[in-house]
Amino acid sequence: MLRLQAPLPDRYTTADPEALRGRIRDAKTELGSRLLILGHHYQRDEVIEWADMRGDSFKLARFAADNTEATDIVFCGVHFMAESADVLTGDHQRVILPDLNAGCSMADMANIDQVEDAWEELAQVTDVDRVVPITYMNSSAALKAFVGEHGGAVCTSSNARAVLEWALDRGDQVLFFPDQHLGRNTAIDMGHSEDEMLVWNPHADLGGHEDHEVKQATFLLWRGWCSVHQRFRPEHVEAFRAEHPDGEVIVHPECAHDVVAIGDKIGSTERILEWVEQAPAGAALGVATEIHMVQRMAREHPDKTVVSLDPLVCPCSTMFRIDAPHLAWCLDQLLEGRVVNQIVVDPATSRWARVALERMLEIT
Ligand code: 13P
Ligand code: SF4
Repeated sequence: MLRLQAPLPDRYTTADPEALRGRIRDAKTELGSRLLILGHHYQRDEVIEWADMRGDSFKLARFAADNTEATDIVFCGVHFMAESADVLTGDHQRVILPDLNAGCSMADMANIDQVEDAWEELAQVTDVDRVVPITYMNSSAALKAFVGEHGGAVCTSSNARAVLEWALDRGDQVLFFPDQHLGRNTAIDMGHSEDEMLVWNPHADLGGHEDHEVKQATFLLWRGWCSVHQRFRPEHVEAFRAEHPDGEVIVHPECAHDVVAIGDKIGSTERILEWVEQAPAGAALGVATEIHMVQRMAREHPDKTVVSLDPLVCPCSTMFRIDAPHLAWCLDQLLEGRVVNQIVVDPATSRWARVALERMLEIT
């Protein structure tokens, strides 16, 4: 888990924004088609402007899987996304994360030892051959490998329903990690009730439950969450609606269910972007997701009112670590023949993680 980013040379940290832009532009031009920059929607403007492809985590995984030309893929996102790109790309391709400290606090809420322990505990009380493990994309490659090896799959916020339906065609129970909210929201969307779900506490024996409770639950939801999305509360929705009675509330499914339940539209970052783009001029849209994305949509659609539902603003602090100095630095290093911050998943992990990711790509 410990990822350490060495400090950058002063010429990057003290450079003015225009000088950095010039550096990045020149490096991009010189590296040409050997370089592919992928950017998640939560990235800062100073980074996303250089992305050859933008998207949610599903779309970016597809780009990585489909692109065979570029040998150097600079992933402007967080660690689990770069790992997935490494798993899905060929041996001739290298994936670079501009700042090694760009992790994801939710992904860190489940580690392989905890998941293996949970699986062993489950095996004592239920038939694990009928339990399908599903991991959210926001997880380490080790967890993706675990689900690949145990008959499960990866899902993202854009395909969680299809993947959970697939899982329940194959088994009677689902162990879903690490985001309890995406699991709960999706299961409810599929018509299941909260009585069919248990929250699995990785720090308690048998997740904090009795044998018969675990045996009966259809969904065992890992007790993980996104601190950015968990900030949104029903009061924010009510306040927005009071101000914009005809407005629309658009919510990311990592938000808690009490917010999702009263939202008008629920979807991944890519879907959120599409809904904002498709809204008519004059529309008022209250959005529950990361602030950089919301502010960019507001700027790009001045004919619409696009606001964050949370007035106190909620950036994703790890996405925020990727900035122009780190991007300029890793591109300059490439030009000098050095590959810095390469994300490499070991072959044994990669093999099973790829199985789990490819199952997801086949399902959706
Ligand atoms: P998306 O797949 O919707 O982009 O979500 C990724 C993420 O980390 C949201 O917090
Ligand atoms: Fe992780 Fe939340 Fe940041 Fe998404 S917004 S990368 S889930 S911490």
